Amino acid sequence: MIQRYQGQQTQWRLSFVSDSEKAMTLTPGDGPCAWTVHVGSSDELTPERLRRAAAKAVKTMKELGGKTGVLDAAPLLPILGPAAGAALTQGAELALHEAPSFATGTPKEPITLWLDGNCDGLDQALQESAHLTRSICLARDLVNCPANKLTPALMAEEMTREAEALGIQCQVLDEHQARTLGMEAFLTVGNSALHPPRLIVLRYRGGGDEDPICLVGKGVTCDTGGYCLKAASSMKGIKGDMAGAAAVWGAVLALAANHVPVNVTAVIPSVENRISPDSYIPGDVISSMSGKTIEVGNTDAEGRLILADGVTYAIREEHAARIVDIATLTGAVVGMFGFTTAGYLSNNEGFSDAFQAAYHRSGEQYWPLPTFPEYRKMIESPLADLSNTSSDGCGTITAGLFIGVFAEDKPWIHIDIAGTAWVDSPRFEYQTKGATGAGVTTLYELCKGYAQEV
Ligand code: BES
Ligand code: ZN
Ligand code: ZN
Repeated sequence: MIQRYQGQQTQWRLSFVSDSEKAMTLTPGDGPCAWTVHVGSSDELTPERLRRAAAKAVKTMKELGGKTGVLDAAPLLPILGPAAGAALTQGAELALHEAPSFATGTPKEPITLWLDGNCDGLDQALQESAHLTRSICLARDLVNCPANKLTPALMAEEMTREAEALGIQCQVLDEHQARTLGMEAFLTVGNSALHPPRLIVLRYRGGGDEDPICLVGKGVTCDTGGYCLKAASSMKGIKGDMAGAAAVWGAVLALAANHVPVNVTAVIPSVENRISPDSYIPGDVISSMSGKTIEVGNTDAEGRLILADGVTYAIREEHAARIVDIATLTGAVVGMFGFTTAGYLSNNEGFSDAFQAAYHRSGEQYWPLPTFPEYRKMIESPLADLSNTSSDGCGTITAGLFIGVFAEDKPWIHIDIAGTAWVDSPRFEYQTKGATGAGVTTLYELCKGYAQEV
């Protein structure tokens, strides 16, 4: 965590100034390691711009061999208030947070940063943002973890260890308990793998006695595609197919660490999608916790199957008032929006508006998708209530609408982060190669928006 500067010895001084002449540039200042970071004109100043500026500055400092530095926020605090300090420290920390290496040899020397400047409310803003930053980094670490070191059971252990430390109530259901609940869609994907499935439930109760918002995250610890095996070239990222799970976990950890007065439950169906003699195959017809039957068109469309049961579980067992599901669900969303923007759809205008407000606050990029009745027809099956593949393209929308069937009449949002959860090369300055921690801040902001005065 970046501490407040109290005159420590430091090599670098990065001064952040609002300068209408210069749009986000770094220029050398007085002395060998004094740099001025111009963040553009004051009327364009946003936390997101400052996150990017701080990230760029500390990455430059690192490239030039700097090990200690001060971020001078003083000129920006009167303009943007404590949010400026929070954004600068968050951008800097995220930019330095890299995927851990398993290479043997001497570890890299750490970099230490401090924040200079003061204003009313700064300590509190830094504390809140430090908890969020930590949660983003934990989510990144989990997604970066190789699949042989993160089975569903190991993910449950890791998630509950961090959650319990923050007083969150945790429950992990094994395959037998899931069977008793009738979670056939979930078990069909996961039960033939050597490492059995887990349903991870994290209940954070910061609010009164109102029913919770349920965040349902896709936790496929490895997605080979099953019998509809992925091509070798598409397998590089298969360990990252639990980024939705990591996002809901990170959001709940941050809500708990910041004592946000709201009730939120994370529901994480976690499985391996592998090939074994008993694995499901295309053409199978299966049931689900809801009782709805599903024709399997493709075993690589496994995410919507486990999320369907995750959503039904959230309604029946957790009494969800609202539901968000988040997943690395479709390649199609990457084709549409690339690696910078996630797609979403919803069945409820008010909830959708709240989500839009949340991502404007977080600075993450999302774009809404249409839900016309024609799209719903594309997942009809001649044999069952639904098919897990579309008969007519529109892969991201139809995958979302499949899950929406299970949300019944609850206000619901579906988020597809297949493009934004992972970057081989950073698209924003505060990203590093690998997992991005996508979704954590926006889900946090969404839930915080529903916080009650208690
Ligand atoms: N996990 C993948 C989606 C994915 C693709 C995530 C690229 C990250 C990067 C998902 O399970 C999948 O394989 N989806 C298929 C669905 C299709 C078979 C209907 C897809 O999008 O190709
Ligand atoms: Zn798949
Ligand atoms: Zn998948």
